[in-house]
Amino acid sequence: MYDYAKLLHLIAGIVWMGGMTFMLFALRPAAMATIEPQPRAMLMGRVWQRFYAWVLVAIVVLFATGTHLYTATFRTAKEATGTGSVPLGWNVMLVLGVTMMLVFGHIFFAGFKKYKRAVSGADWPLAAKAGALIQKMTLLNFVLGWAAIVSVRLLR
Ligand code: HEM
Repeated sequence: MYDYAKLLHLIAGIVWMGGMTFMLFALRPAAMATIEPQPRAMLMGRVWQRFYAWVLVAIVVLFATGTHLYTATFRTAKEATGTGSVPLGWNVMLVLGVTMMLVFGHIFFAGFKKYKRAVSGADWPLAAKAGALIQKMTLLNFVLGWAAIVSVRLLR
C-alpha cells in the first residue's frame, strides 16, 4: 500500500511540476514573443483551463497520498518507540505542499477567474495584468515545489 501511495504521489508531483516547467519556460515565453496580445490571451486562457483541471486532480492525489505516507510512518514509529517522529524534510514538505495548494487556490480563484472575465469582456490590459499575476504565482509554486522535493530528499 505504501509503495502504491508513493508511486501515485510521485506521478502527481511530476504532472504538476512538469506542467509548470513547460508553462513558465517554454509555452508562455514563446507565445509572448510570437503571438499578438488578443489571440495570445485566448490561447493562454484555453491552455490554463485544461492544465488547471490536471492540477486540481494532482492536488487531490498529492494531499491524499502525502498525508497517508506521513501518518502511516508516524504511526509505525509511535508503536515502535512510543514517540512518533518523522524526518524534518517530511514536515517541510507538508508545510510547503499545503502552501503550494493555497497559492494555487489564489491562482485559480483570483488570477484565473479575473483573467477569464477580462478575456470575455475584451479587456486586454486587465487580461495582461491577470496573466502576469498568474505567471508570478506559478513561479512561486515552482520554487516552493523544488524546495519541498529537495527537503524531503536531503533533510533528516
Ligand atoms: C500535503 C502535502 C504533502 C505531503 C503531506 C507530502 C508528504 C510526503 C512524504 C511523507 C514523502 C516521503 C515519502 C517517503 O520517502 O517514503 C513525500 C515524498 C515526495 N513528495 Fe510529497 N507531500 C506533499 C506534497 C507534495 C507536493 C506538492 C509535491 C510536488 C509537487 C510533492 C512531491 C514529492 C516527491 C517528488 C517525493 C519523493 C521524494 C523521494 O523520492 O523520496 N509532495 N511527500
